[in-house]
Amino acid sequence: MNDQAILTVQDISLRVGDKTILSNCSLSLHKGELKVLIGPSGAGKSTFLQCINVLTVPDTGSIFLEGREVMTKNAKELCLYRTKVGMIFQDFKLFDHLTAIDNVAIALRKVRGKSREEARKRAIEELARVNLSDQANLYPAQLSGGQKQRVAFARALAMDPLVLLLDEPTSALDPELVGEVLAVIRDLAAHGMTMIMATHQMDFIRAISSEIIFMEQGHIVEQGPPEALLGDTAQSRTKQFYNSLATV
Ligand SMILES: Nc1ncnc2c1ncn2[C@@H]1O[C@H](COP(=O)(O)OP(=O)(O)OP(=O)(O)O)[C@@H](O)[C@H]1O
Ligand SMILES: [Mg+2]
Repeated sequence: MNDQAILTVQDISLRVGDKTILSNCSLSLHKGELKVLIGPSGAGKSTFLQCINVLTVPDTGSIFLEGREVMTKNAKELCLYRTKVGMIFQDFKLFDHLTAIDNVAIALRKVRGKSREEARKRAIEELARVNLSDQANLYPAQLSGGQKQRVAFARALAMDPLVLLLDEPTSALDPELVGEVLAVIRDLAAHGMTMIMATHQMDFIRAISSEIIFMEQGHIVEQGPPEALLGDTAQSRTKQFYNSLATV
């Protein structure tokens, strides 16, 4: 059995001024795992994901992709790394001046060097995969939040990522639109996509995650399978947090 992790993140720490934002945070991900980051607001979940994508540069820490250390100071290597470790944001971060299809096609042309035609063909396939074929020529302002988020998924998936980082992908959506984005994530998980997701969708977490990582004040406090941390006999910090959410 090949048990090498796809992504290993070791000892990520970040201080801003005299405040510790992240303290020795580590994780490893194997193919097909969906690990979920939970914890109170301000725990450091978004910052941790940003450090893994090197949108924020941590003070210390190393990242290994398929066993090889990523040289994050090398701009070319970092650009390639970001196509392999894609990121989905709460607020979509689409290009407002580009149609859905062009939002998906642009990196295929600029980063992957594909022709306009090849890029459009792949973009059409990816938009179909997230059920947006009919919206391909619309601009973000003409799309619902759920549709915008699905364009963001199509854009990330067009790069053939090894890993997706999802930062609260449904928390900016109206409740009736959450399901369509969770359906995309569920489908990706079923097809073996490897993901780390910060979320507060607790029912979804229990149903689908391989492992829960509970963060508090910049530390990883606990990690383990949902049943171990949330099962009937569990007495975990995660369960306390879960119960406090459930009663809100
Ligand atoms: N650039 C920055 N400068 C200073 N402090 C920052 C910066 N970025 C984040 N922080 C602080 O780091 C801490 C962690 O923030 P982060 O956004 O990562 O938390 P979170 O767990 O994602 O919270 P939420 O559930 O609200 O999204 C917070 O105290 C925040 O104020
Ligand atoms: Mg956050």
